[in-house]
This record gives sequence, structure tokens and C-alpha cells, in this order.
Amino acid sequence: TQPFAFQAAVITLSDAGAAGAREDKSGPMIVQRLRESGYAVIEQLLLPDGRERLEHELIRLCDQRQPDLILTTGGTGFSQRDVTPEATLAVADRQVPGIAEAMRAASMQITKRAMLSRAVSVIRGRTLIINLPGSPKACMETMDVFMDTIPHGLGLLR
Ligand code: MTE
Repeated sequence: TQPFAFQAAVITLSDAGAAGAREDKSGPMIVQRLRESGYAVIEQLLLPDGRERLEHELIRLCDQRQPDLILTTGGTGFSQRDVTPEATLAVADRQVPGIAEAMRAASMQITKRAMLSRAVSVIRGRTLIINLPGSPKACMETMDVFMDTIPHGLGLLR
């Protein structure tokens, strides 16, 4: 990777995935897409759904490793265990609602169920954190929306 490549981390939230009962397809697809786009992926985590562990890892990553970008996948729906947005907001310094708004607006053209995504986008320190839905297809569709545009913001965060 080039010396000034943006750094990224990817966190999958999935009870079944973390228990080894289901293969995590979304995390690896996001990692591959990031690498193809020139990002250095410094960590990839697979966590059970739930707030405490996710908040801990987000704080550790943002405050110690300081990647430019963290993408989470999963836990943005209506199930009782879907609490990724709440954990993300709990560690946020500032909100960036436009990214999540743009993801939902674009995804509404694909499926009206996009309105059921509770995903948020925020900044902690020098790191942009974006929640993606859980399915691999939805992850790629939502990355299509912001990948060309976020480098400008990431540059200003450094
Ligand atoms: N966005 C896109 N682009 N494509 C999709 O297929 N699925 C929706 C929504 N956003 C979807 C999407 C559905 S069905 C749900 S329930 C929410 O994302 C939350 O997904 P999650 O519970 O897997 O996080």
C-alpha cells in the first residue's frame, strides 16, 4: 500500500457468525472492496450482536489505532439484538447524518425495506464510522453510495 493510503477497519456484528454457526460473507466482501479502492485494512473483527463489546472495540480502534474509516455490518434492523446504531451513537463525538440519509435514499430505489435500516454515520476523533446493513448485497449497494465521496471528508479529518 502507498504511504498515504487511508486506513480502515471492518466490524461484523452477527450472533450466528461469532458463534461459528454462519459464515460471515459481508465482512470479507467489504474488506476486498476497500482494498480494491486503495484502503489499507488494519483490522477485521467478528463480534456477537450487542452494545458493550462493540462500544469497547470502537473506542479502542478510534482512540488508539486511529483508522480513517470504520465500517460496521449488521445489527441495524428491528430485532431486539440489533443495537449497532445505539453503540455507534454512544461513542460518537459528532454525527454525520447525510451519509446514512444518502444510503437510505439510494437504497429506497432498490428496496423499500431500506427505510427499515436504522444505520447511523458518525465521527469519533479522527475516524469516520459508518453502519452498513447486514446482507452482502446491501453492503455493496450502500458502499456504492458513499465510496467516491468520503475521501474528501477523510482528508479533512486527518
Ligand atoms: N439497503 C440496501 N441497499 N439493500 C438492501 O437489501 N436491506 C434492508 C435495509 N437496507 C437492504 C438495505 C433491510 S431488509 C433491513 S432489515 C435493514 O437494511 C437492516 O439490515 P440489518 O438488520 O441486516 O442490519
